[in-house]
Amino acid sequence: MGKAVPLVEEPTEAGEGYDATPYLPARGGLAALRRAAADCRGCPLFRDATQTVFGAGSDSARTVFVGEQPGDQEDRQGEPFVGPAGRLLRKAMNEGGLDERQAYFTNAVKHFKFTVAARGKRRIHKAPSLREMTACRPWLNAELAQLDPEVIVVLGATAAKTLLGSSFRVTKERGTPIESERGLVVATVHPSSVLRSDDRAEAYAGLVSDLRVVAGLLE
Ligand code: URA
Repeated sequence: MGKAVPLVEEPTEAGEGYDATPYLPARGGLAALRRAAADCRGCPLFRDATQTVFGAGSDSARTVFVGEQPGDQEDRQGEPFVGPAGRLLRKAMNEGGLDERQAYFTNAVKHFKFTVAARGKRRIHKAPSLREMTACRPWLNAELAQLDPEVIVVLGATAAKTLLGSSFRVTKERGTPIESERGLVVATVHPSSVLRSDDRAEAYAGLVSDLRVVAGLLE
């Protein structure tokens, strides 16, 4: 078992001015949160995105998977992890012994941030800033409070930064359960980094191996 790491809870100064808090509903469960998030204007990312992509999955999920932000297809369809990275993640979960019906999928940031290629209309993913991540954090906090999962699976550096702080290194600490006040957290690579990897088979095997650790925690 790894060492206890406090989850980052307080907005930092870097997040000043951007904040989703005023958009959160005073009461209600996940459905109320999802409805309210559709109108979030807590940071400027809503302007260019098609829609808010809130978390989705089982209301009684044992695991919550936290990614970075919706991608192009997620932005169009309004659902997290429905594009190539999501397909790869589900395949790896299956091989790692995790049932996707007992999982909930969400992102650190709920709007797609992108630039448009100089020629053509292709929308290219752009990493969210610390301000945007901090502004969006109340939604993730509220989802985790509602779901109270047994294990939170952090996918890649952005989600790790949001939940575990900027000094956390996924490459060093991946696949090791970490105790936090929200329960156990396991960090692993983002599935899109597997898709981009020079050695995709090796990167994929690493992801599956980390997910087997998660499956072991649920036994
Ligand atoms: N990448 C993410 O981090 N989240 C998604 O929902 C899709 C791709």
